[in-house]
Amino acid sequence: MRDPTFWILARASGLTAYVLLTMSVLAGLVLKSRPLGRKLNAAAVTDTHRFLAFLGLGAVALHGLTLVLDSTVHISLAALVVPGLAPYRPAWTALGVLAANLMALIVVSFPLRKRIGMRAWRKLHWATYGLFALATVHGLAAGTDTSAPWAFPIYLGAVGSVVFATAWRALNRPVRPLTTKGGDHVPNPDRPVAV
Ligand code: HEM
Repeated sequence: MRDPTFWILARASGLTAYVLLTMSVLAGLVLKSRPLGRKLNAAAVTDTHRFLAFLGLGAVALHGLTLVLDSTVHISLAALVVPGLAPYRPAWTALGVLAANLMALIVVSFPLRKRIGMRAWRKLHWATYGLFALATVHGLAAGTDTSAPWAFPIYLGAVGSVVFATAWRALNRPVRPLTTKGGDHVPNPDRPVAV
């Protein structure tokens, strides 16, 4: 009988990666819209946002590695990075590969943002929404567990909370920099460091 350990690990790590990605997106949105005002320290939220993204990328690596080691689906190392090479539910799996590539690019760009330039880096960071959409469709369409009664609420909760937090952010524009009487700008202690 086939040992299902890697298959179970692959599915569990896929869902873990998706939840961590969602939490990282939410932390980024909290950083920008600051629903709790001064109660949250901007530097701590920034660290949490990045840490969740790094953990998410680690879970994606485990997802890929366990899929390669498993014998239910035949996925090569090359198929983890080149969209369209995996024979299992090819279109939906390709979306996961695209999401993983985009996630790696965005996470690696964190420490390089000064070198890339803040404007270009911010534009790249907006691609997180595309990454989240790709990962959602990939998980829903490629996943074995999608039909389980507990799985759909996870996707619904993730999409619902990201849509809600994005709407909140759009309605609560970031605080403008403080100005002195002479009109000079001074740093606003409330304003988080842009990420
Ligand atoms: C950001 C990157 C990724 C995320 C967040 C992600 C997430 C997920 C999720 C949530 C599932 C459903 C698991 C289940 O229903 O139990 C899944 C399934 C799957 N993923 Fe990914 N994935 C990503 C990247 C990849 C990559 C790079 C591959 C490589 C080929 C891949 C291949 C697969 C396959 C074959 C399945 C079907 C497994 C099953 O039947 O559950 N994924 N993924």
